[in-house]
Amino acid sequence: MRFRVSPIAFCSSFLALSGAFPTPNISGPTKIPLPDRIVYQFPNLAWIENIAVRSNGDLILTQLTPKAAVFAIEKPASSSPQIQLVNEFPADVEGLTGIVETTPDTFVFTGGNLHTGEYFAWSVDFNRRPHPVVKQIVQLVDVGLPNGLCTLPWLNHVVLISDSSLGQVWRLNTHTGNFDVAVKVPEMTPVQQGGSGAAATGVNGITIFKGWLYWTNSAAKTIYRLKITRDGSIARGAKVEVVAKLDVGFVDDFAIDLERGIIFVTTGLDNRVWAVDVHPGGKAPVLVVGATNQLTVAGSTSAVFGRTSRDRKVLYVTTSGALSAPVNGTLAEPGKVVGVDTKGFHL
Ligand SMILES: *[C@@H]1O[C@H](CO)[C@@H](O)[C@H](O)[C@H]1NC(C)=O
Ligand SMILES: *[C@@H]1O[C@H](CO)[C@@H](O)[C@H](O)[C@H]1NC(C)=O
Repeated sequence: MRFRVSPIAFCSSFLALSGAFPTPNISGPTKIPLPDRIVYQFPNLAWIENIAVRSNGDLILTQLTPKAAVFAIEKPASSSPQIQLVNEFPADVEGLTGIVETTPDTFVFTGGNLHTGEYFAWSVDFNRRPHPVVKQIVQLVDVGLPNGLCTLPWLNHVVLISDSSLGQVWRLNTHTGNFDVAVKVPEMTPVQQGGSGAAATGVNGITIFKGWLYWTNSAAKTIYRLKITRDGSIARGAKVEVVAKLDVGFVDDFAIDLERGIIFVTTGLDNRVWAVDVHPGGKAPVLVVGATNQLTVAGSTSAVFGRTSRDRKVLYVTTSGALSAPVNGTLAEPGKVVGVDTKGFHL
């Protein structure tokens, strides 16, 4: 997430829902860019910040602007995905940030008032009939800017929350509402970008993979990892490793393909998605979709893989519509969800 908003012009010619994937039959080297299609695009200005998936395959989205809201996209892999408003917040809650599933069909998400700095964690429970139930867990007092979320694999009700302005990761017990600092290392700090004066964004996306905490530092344009304990603290003697430093303007959130050991990372203001080896010093990063001067994934904010047999290899990418950094200086569009078919792709 990046908050500086520049003057924009809207390009609203991308509103139609397109059909399902033509299911390319890939044999031999995969063609780059990977096939993409618009799953859903909002009718008006909308900065979609983060995404999670229900076990039934529905996508759950958090909106940062113009208002704090949770949406669901039903049947995203079909030719007719349906958008549903799950919850809208009163105006004092300005925007939402990260979201993650804790227990089956219960998700925790964060957000709040970007001007007063009052932030909260909420849960939304889709097991409840007839409507999902949203509850406040706790006000995140002293948190600078809650951004990316992940759960501890060993304690699902414990959520790690990246703090992009304080440069640290918090640990929230969603049962009790207690929270404390889990990890704070210099590699999470927002490094000041060349005299722009804009608030820099440090640690952003976070995910745990095989006992390592992976994170992006947006300003440093780098992905790092660090061994952690089962309760999310730094493992004894663990040292921060650089997974990859990318030649991009920004790194935002990411999804890891567990089978292939590939990190698919979004670049926010430069409108792309890169594939990165999970192992430091591994294969070179590959640009898989988007371009700095194209709207394909304009303002790519986050990514997640589908969970049904139909879309397990579809990477769903959310966008801000390039609101904070218009394409070619003038082009922005309503945010959207783009499905990228990663089937057959290897680094
Ligand atoms: C491509 O199509 C052929 C023939 O239908 C099939 O045998 C093969 O498994 C397909 N490959 C992939 C990668 O889907
Ligand atoms: C941005 O400008 C470049 C160079 O003129 C052009 O090739 C590209 O198509 C433009 N992008 C859009 C989305 O119009």
